[in-house]
Amino acid sequence: MVDLWPSLVVALDLDSEEKIKNIIEQLTPKAKKFKIGPVAYTRFGPEAINWVCKKGADVFLDFKLYDIPNTMIETAKAFIDLGVWAFTVHLKAGRESISMLTDKISDYAKESDKRAPLVFGVTELTSKKAAPEQILNLAKEGKEAGVQGVVCSVWEAREIKRETGLLTVTPGIRQKPSADDQKRTASLADAVKAGSDYFVVGRPIVKSDNPYRAAESLIERAL
Ligand code: C5P
Repeated sequence: MVDLWPSLVVALDLDSEEKIKNIIEQLTPKAKKFKIGPVAYTRFGPEAINWVCKKGADVFLDFKLYDIPNTMIETAKAFIDLGVWAFTVHLKAGRESISMLTDKISDYAKESDKRAPLVFGVTELTSKKAAPEQILNLAKEGKEAGVQGVVCSVWEAREIKRETGLLTVTPGIRQKPSADDQKRTASLADAVKAGSDYFVVGRPIVKSDNPYRAAESLIERAL
């Protein structure tokens, strides 16, 4: 049977240190990847990254960079120093800026003898409707600019994989049609069928009374 735990990225969008630590404690070592974005990082800073790394799991730092090349590059150097596994940029920042970024981070990682994080390009937010061809074009630009993967909805994952071969990360995973802000949602079973490499799940796990059980049952239902 396929083990889906290594492909699960748990989004720690919470404002409580205690809750975040409890979730990491409960879900490791089965869960290997946790996503930290502005919600947790603004409150807890690099400490939040340490909470994940201390348990032997990887950090997916989701700041969706969209800025002038110099600012993106200097920020990404700090991400490398923090030891993150992967981080995100907006593909709409453009091919030129992202190419400069991917070149510079691999140079910086080599010079400083650190691991170069994977760069995932955000195509379009899953909380918005979007045209599939526009998403595919962004993914193709990302590939030319040297990203290793893209963030897209399950709906576009298969086509992007076929056309670009990039890794696909899919948020918006919901068992039932979403009643919240997410619009391009799909079940985990559909994400698996679409060949998604990593799936991001936040609220269905982290807002549950029993986050471990919520993650386990989500995975069980997808198999
Ligand atoms: O709580 P939920 O499962 O909706 O969490 C999804 C996570 O994925 C959030 O942290 C959100 O910021 C992130 N995300 C997204 N859509 C994208 C990129 C990232 O929902 N296109």
